[in-house]
Amino acid sequence: MDRIIVLDFGGQYCHLIARRIRDLGVYSEILPFDVDLDKLKATRPKGIILSGGPSSVYEARSPQLPDGFFNLIFEEKIPVLGICYGHHQIIHVLGGQIEAHDSKEYGKTELYIIEPNLLLDSLEEREIVWMSHGDQVKFLPEGFQLLAKTDTCPIAAYGSENKKVYGVQFHPEVVHTPKGNQILDNFIEKIARAKKEWKLEDWIEHSIEGIRKEIGPENRVILGLSGGVDSSVTAILLHEAIGDRLHSIFVNNGLLRKYEDKEVQQIFEEKLKFKNFHYINAEDMFLERLKNVGDPEEKRKIIGHTFIEVFEKKTIELDKDFPNIKYLAQGTIYPDRVETAATSKAAAKIKSHHNLTLPNDMTLEIIEPLKDLYKDEVRKIGLKLGLDKELIERHPFPGPGLAVRCLGTVEKERLDILRDADHILIEEIRKAGVYNDLWQILCVFLPVKSVGIMGDYRTYENICAIRAVKSLDAMTANFAKLDWDLLEKISTRIINEVKGFNRVVYDISNKPPSTIEYE
Ligand code: XMP
Repeated sequence: MDRIIVLDFGGQYCHLIARRIRDLGVYSEILPFDVDLDKLKATRPKGIILSGGPSSVYEARSPQLPDGFFNLIFEEKIPVLGICYGHHQIIHVLGGQIEAHDSKEYGKTELYIIEPNLLLDSLEEREIVWMSHGDQVKFLPEGFQLLAKTDTCPIAAYGSENKKVYGVQFHPEVVHTPKGNQILDNFIEKIARAKKEWKLEDWIEHSIEGIRKEIGPENRVILGLSGGVDSSVTAILLHEAIGDRLHSIFVNNGLLRKYEDKEVQQIFEEKLKFKNFHYINAEDMFLERLKNVGDPEEKRKIIGHTFIEVFEKKTIELDKDFPNIKYLAQGTIYPDRVETAATSKAAAKIKSHHNLTLPNDMTLEIIEPLKDLYKDEVRKIGLKLGLDKELIERHPFPGPGLAVRCLGTVEKERLDILRDADHILIEEIRKAGVYNDLWQILCVFLPVKSVGIMGDYRTYENICAIRAVKSLDAMTANFAKLDWDLLEKISTRIINEVKGFNRVVYDISNKPPSTIEYE
């Protein structure tokens, strides 16, 4: 299948570029900026996009293309598009000049197209684009043509039809550049001539075939089925591929939302008729191990390891009847791998991801069928495979569950309070019809007591924080500007109905600098 490679220079929009390309129908993958050239060549890219990034090309230790990059590009005639920092890199390596500019430009700007060209084809002479830069190109190397400018940026786009190398100072991948998709489409279709073969139906078929081949006709797979979108889609995909040779293990770790265990059981066991659905109640074990643990990373590790231990124990038990359980399936998706800095060198490690903190002595092989997909793609696949819309549209829920929303030590009483508040919150948000407008909405237990008044009595209870965010892929997120009346209703209900909270606060932080979850 034709593919476009995005080289990651650390820009916040790097994932957005890859997603836009996939949405336009061409498979796209992200590789680090200093990728080994043989590895890059082996991907047989139809085109390469150099992402933006926060650095300046002349800075010490700024990310630089690998030596010989353009030899490969020109030998193999691979089209290249540089965006922002990527646009500077091209000029820097090919002998032009970049300069730091006094007036940094952020936000919407008018672009004037100077020269008709393939990249900006079908655009008007003047278009709005989204700029975000300090440095800019001063001189172009030989063989490049100026294509567009803005009032403060004399070289806002350049290109060489001959070399098939182009650069834009602005960001075509963001929605604030209204014709951005057209520009990316021009690159993939008119310049890279990539075939639009990335269709989710085909992906499903290939993936099912691939899973069957990988597992073989005899082996069995166990899967930690949490009931979240990722593990549910993994389950249904594996079930399609190997039927009842899939053993789904649902662990009630005591950190789930209200009624969640019953709901998941009902969907998979009763509705979808999964024959080998195993429910394990390990609440006491998890809570015992989490006793007196307040450190977030420690909590995650304990929960991750306990999960695996429970799995392995169950596998050994199942092994007596089914000696061919050889694989452990996981619902890891593409951004999960990047959040743990597995793919992006420029991305700092933020939180160790629950799914990936496996003990070293794992005895099962890992299978991750969704590892190259974005969340919206996973959702579409789930729908196509017949999962309920309500399950598919469920907000993400972290593997360590309510433990990372219960700040400080995790105790059953606190979890019950949090569960009740969360249940009210979700009920009201659904009733108001705004659930699907949000990436996530959640309650957090803040172990800080404050004074309140209830009837004639003084209360002294904990605080419930409500966090609601809008996001495209969880890499960045903005707090949601919810309706005040709705928030008032939620706050009133939580304080009146949940014993343990006497105050509700609303979180107005964006990511970055805050993360979505509190721990
Ligand atoms: P943060 O808090 O890092 O979260 O902004 C980004 C997204 O990831 C989810 N999340 C997790 N999901 N295991 C998961 O399966 C985890 O350990 C985990 N931690 C965070 C979070 O809910 C948000 O959607």
